[in-house]
Amino acid sequence: MNVDGYVARGMVGRPVEDPSVPQRVLVAGGAGFIGSHLAQRLLGEGHFVRVADVVPNEYFAPEEYCSEFVEADLRKVEACRKVCEGMDWIFCLAADMGGMGFIHSNNSVILYNSTMITLSMIEGARQAGAKRFFFASSACVYNEANQEDPNSADLTENLAWPAKPQDGYGLEKLYGEEVCLSYGRDFNMETRIARFHNIYGERGTWKGGREKVPAAFCRKAIASTSTFEMWGDGLQSRSFCHVDDCVEGILRLFYSPFVLPINLGSSEMVNMRQLAQLVMSFEGKDLELDHIPGPEGVRGRNSDNTVIKAVLGWEPQISLADGMRRAYNWIKAQIDAEIEASGELDIETLYATSRVVAQQEPEGDEFAARAE
Ligand SMILES: NC(=O)c1ccc[n+]([C@@H]2O[C@H](COP(=O)([O-])OP(=O)(O)OC[C@H]3O[C@@H](n4cnc5c(N)ncnc54)[C@H](O)[C@@H]3O)[C@@H](O)[C@H]2O)c1
Repeated sequence: MNVDGYVARGMVGRPVEDPSVPQRVLVAGGAGFIGSHLAQRLLGEGHFVRVADVVPNEYFAPEEYCSEFVEADLRKVEACRKVCEGMDWIFCLAADMGGMGFIHSNNSVILYNSTMITLSMIEGARQAGAKRFFFASSACVYNEANQEDPNSADLTENLAWPAKPQDGYGLEKLYGEEVCLSYGRDFNMETRIARFHNIYGERGTWKGGREKVPAAFCRKAIASTSTFEMWGDGLQSRSFCHVDDCVEGILRLFYSPFVLPINLGSSEMVNMRQLAQLVMSFEGKDLELDHIPGPEGVRGRNSDNTVIKAVLGWEPQISLADGMRRAYNWIKAQIDAEIEASGELDIETLYATSRVVAQQEPEGDEFAARAE
């Protein structure tokens, strides 16, 4: 990849001159994992932060992480325009989302819901006169042909095209990127796009089927006593980025003049066996791995950080060992609280395995009805 050319082509936007000047900010999907961390950080920096989401945050009362919570179904452009009104900065993190156990088996639901959200959000932001828009894209946009080798999986930004993402989830994100790029070119709106690579950390989904591998592995390490369940041979490789680094990267990018999609992830790649060993080491466990069939995703994926370093002079800083320990301790505290509340809980039966979330066909026109 011609990195200098990509950087030069992207450095054409207007930066935020003084990020410390208070703004009115919307975090769409802000009750979710990454959105709530972002909202809390922006609130702490003195901005007025409106969160719009279809559900409230699971762990916080609104006043703990935002100035105002609005319940809204963001698949509908009218709802989006309303929540964007009066807002200077828009961060769009809303999506129908989950780990491999969800995205691999729910293509139709994801394609419908997330496409509606992305389109409605950017158009609603335009109609409301917002000047700056951030779109949360994903490493899932990359062409699967470039992710077959678990040992050599560095993804530079140009490798998303020609397009062949593995799942509908990644295709929707790639389409969303193009929509943002077009709106940024055609209208008076600065758009910024980050491709997140496996974000994990405290307050992330950790059970129920939508959780991703870092949380699922922490849960299994805590709950298992004989073997450690793993989908596939465990040689699939990934990098994982702690949510605090993700938030830092979103803001640095948002304030910058860089308009093209950029990787936001760690370049510390591990395979799933190594990740399992790491989480088991936190409490001295060394269980035998039990490899079972399950959705594995691509074979290898790592964030190539050449562009982000050139553009922002920064890349994610938190080591996998430090970040995973924080996530592990938080999940352990959740499980301990459940045990205390119930008096007695068989956590091995409940939490030592993962499940695939089957796609449920909506009743009649339930999709459309929910978008009203
Ligand atoms: N977590 C990751 O590793 C990761 C990786 C790549 C990209 N992303 C992207 O980052 C963003 C945030 O991800 P997250 O991990 O915080 O997920 P999340 O599921 O915790 O947050 C998404 C939020 O969107 C909300 N939402 C869904 N449908 C909605 C609707 N119709 N109207 C309003 N709100 C709706 C959900 O309620 C949820 O609170 C998403 O766009 C996701 O695709 C995340």
